[in-house]
Amino acid sequence: MTTSILTSFMMIIWLAVKQVRTDCLNDTSTESTFVYRRVCYFANWAAKRYDNISRLTPEDIDPFLCTHINFAFGKVLESLVIAPYEEDDLKGWTASSKGMYERVLKLKEANPDLRVLLSVGGWTHASRGFNEVSKNAANIKTFVKNSVKFLRDNKFDGLDLDWEYPGAKDQGAEPHSKTGYTKLVKKLSRVFQREAERTGQEKLLLTCATAAARHRIEAGYEVEEVCKYFDFVSVMTYDYHGSWDGKTGHNSPLYAMRNERKKFREWNINSSMLVWVELGCPKEKLNIGLSAYGRAFSVFGETGMTNGKPAPKKKSSIGMKASAAEAGKYTREAGVLAYYEICELIQNNPNNRVFWHRDMSVPYVSSKALWIGFDNIRSVTLKMQFLKEHGYGGVIIWSLDLDDKTGEVCHEGPFPIFNAAKRELSILPEHLVHTKNKKCSDINATITVEHLRSKTTTIKTS
Ligand SMILES: *[C@@H]1O[C@H](CO)[C@@H](O)[C@H](O)[C@H]1NC(C)=O
Ligand SMILES: *[C@@H]1O[C@H](CO)[C@@H](O)[C@H](O)[C@H]1NC(C)=O
Ligand SMILES: *[C@@H]1O[C@H](CO)[C@@H](O)[C@H](O)[C@H]1NC(C)=O
Ligand SMILES: *[C@@H]1O[C@H](CO)[C@@H](O)[C@H](O)[C@H]1NC(C)=O
Repeated sequence: MTTSILTSFMMIIWLAVKQVRTDCLNDTSTESTFVYRRVCYFANWAAKRYDNISRLTPEDIDPFLCTHINFAFGKVLESLVIAPYEEDDLKGWTASSKGMYERVLKLKEANPDLRVLLSVGGWTHASRGFNEVSKNAANIKTFVKNSVKFLRDNKFDGLDLDWEYPGAKDQGAEPHSKTGYTKLVKKLSRVFQREAERTGQEKLLLTCATAAARHRIEAGYEVEEVCKYFDFVSVMTYDYHGSWDGKTGHNSPLYAMRNERKKFREWNINSSMLVWVELGCPKEKLNIGLSAYGRAFSVFGETGMTNGKPAPKKKSSIGMKASAAEAGKYTREAGVLAYYEICELIQNNPNNRVFWHRDMSVPYVSSKALWIGFDNIRSVTLKMQFLKEHGYGGVIIWSLDLDDKTGEVCHEGPFPIFNAAKRELSILPEHLVHTKNKKCSDINATITVEHLRSKTTTIKTS
């Protein structure tokens, strides 16, 4: 008797649990499973390099490597229009050949979920054009109208603003740029929304690449406000240290070093991302920046002498006097080396040993005369775990051509850096796996993520 009551009772519980499970499985309110954004930069000049190792054409790109590709770069002109940088962006050199825009967009045929955005600006472009475009309401209105036309005519899925940076006097930004930027972004967002409603087309995405250093963020962005209008915000959490420092330092540390100097204490991914969060940007809108390159230094004082005296022994090789290392054989820019160039240097010279910086959670090469701060599969994986633990929405990676595209140099498979990020981000944290939809969750907190098609998906989480 008792047993049968107990059995019935268990049966009821079992049925109840089963019902909840079924409801969960059938709840299609979220439309798709959660996907972290993987935003990849394509540099148009890389398609023109001479040798096979360094040249990257649109056809070399695995269409499933990224969720978004940002085409770098377009120009912003003082005449308030967007214009292509290279002659072959719009059309190929011969009547029958395709332009670079079209060739990148063609990747969508293989992967219809892929989105391709035009990135305007860049470091060398600086504030040219952007100053005029953000100057007053009339200029903003004209530029926004022209932009929509340019993007639609060329079949892009969105616009990535890469103004480096509003508020940066050293980069030519005028005093109105901080508030002007907000107004520009607000208008772009409104018009993109309305245009989509009017035409029935998928809304153009509006995104940006932004600064990682607190002084630049505070000088250039009304963070809380602009984050409302962007679909996502990519923080360029690299280039923290380079030859301009005059001493060795890592390109993209995850955390600060112990006893880091005050000035540099926030110059790492963990701290930069928190500056954006602290100033009011929702975490799920933020992308962490990764670089498929390293910054390389020629280290002085090989003799161990400075000013005729023996150099003091250093515990760490960080902070040694140094200048830009010789340019890479393929990429040809002093102080910068592509991931595959670093692989080659490590393979070809046993003195180029790889060390791991425990505090900063990144690798570096240190030999007598050469020092390189870079990223490898291990550090990328750890950075992606950090991303997931802290609830950020995705990653941007600069840039496709700097990775080992075929895998023939590093022997880690094709695009080892990008694939390491993809692999780790495809392993979803528990709370995202088990609460794919609202009904299944009994918890309060929600994170909102941008669905690939720019719809918003809400996911409950602990
Ligand atoms: C769930 O969906 C399956 C098939 O799609 C259907 O057979 C089943 O009846 C549905 N269950 C509920 C509770 O709606
Ligand atoms: C470069 O690639 C092309 C095909 O893409 C091939 O025909 C050529 O032999 C390659 N050159 C070298 C030096 O590997
Ligand atoms: C991450 O950054 C914050 C703010 O700068 C800091 O308080 C925290 O200790 C950092 N975490 C680690 C592990 O360094
Ligand atoms: C749910 O949210 C309320 C208010 O927003 C909060 O006070 C409460 O602690 C939350 N409960 C859980 C389980 O997080």
